[in-house]
Amino acid sequence: MELQGKRIAVTGAFGALGAALVQAATAAGARVAAIDRAPVPNGFAAVAAIGNVDLADTSAAKTAIDAAAKALGGLDGLVNIAGTFRWETLADGSADTWDLLYRVNLRTAVAASKAAIPHLVASGAGRIVNISAAGSIKAGAGMGAYAASKSGVARLTEALAEELKDHGVTVNAILPSTIDTAANRADMPKADFTRWVMPAQLSDVIVFLLSDRASAVTGALLPVMGRV
Ligand SMILES: NC(=O)c1ccc[n+]([C@@H]2O[C@H](COP(=O)([O-])OP(=O)(O)OC[C@H]3O[C@@H](n4cnc5c(N)ncnc54)[C@H](OP(=O)(O)O)[C@@H]3O)[C@@H](O)[C@H]2O)c1
Repeated sequence: MELQGKRIAVTGAFGALGAALVQAATAAGARVAAIDRAPVPNGFAAVAAIGNVDLADTSAAKTAIDAAAKALGGLDGLVNIAGTFRWETLADGSADTWDLLYRVNLRTAVAASKAAIPHLVASGAGRIVNISAAGSIKAGAGMGAYAASKSGVARLTEALAEELKDHGVTVNAILPSTIDTAANRADMPKADFTRWVMPAQLSDVIVFLLSDRASAVTGALLPVMGRV
């Protein structure tokens, strides 16, 4: 199994992609600690499930990551999935939306990564996988705040890959297009869902990036688009 014995922390773990990844990583042999701002869902299957954590708060993030490492006996990987989305034009929207998306999409990854670095370095073969977005490459109308925050995730990925290159830790990001989630189907009922990328397909790529086979890949920004 590709992640046999790996100790992996996943943020945003109770959301659509997060829950799919927890399942895929566990099936690949990993032991997983799931962290989220939402309360722990009933019957959530993970070695540790830590809810009600605002990961944009650096002190709360450190407490949660340290608790995850303690529950797993160390950390070999961190997957930063916590995030959210807003569509609004600048003329009709609020400058506060830019702060919100910066906080939820970028600061959560910054705070969780900072807290995880000592654990990942101690692992000797640490991994960070971030979730940017295809929209970070070129923003469409109404996508400015979201794209800026996800561009920030891409830049964090590049900088941290360089910073950790000589410490045995790789840092990569995937850039999904629209994910086939219940929320997106409800928001875009007329869209062709078959073109969207499935959470299980994204999870396959993340599992690869977490695995020993991806040891030579760092600083990569990988579009995973389905047929969008
Ligand atoms: N869905 C898409 O089409 C799409 C496309 C490209 C990229 N992405 C990115 O992929 C990731 C997963 O998307 P998804 O559709 O699975 O989202 P989702 O279902 O909304 O899950 C995101 C999870 O992150 C949690 N979260 C938000 N803010 C947090 C914080 N400050 N601290 C801790 N946890 C927090 C959310 O909790 P709450 O429910 O309490 O907010 C939620 O459980 C996100 O980063 C998203 O931006 C999504």
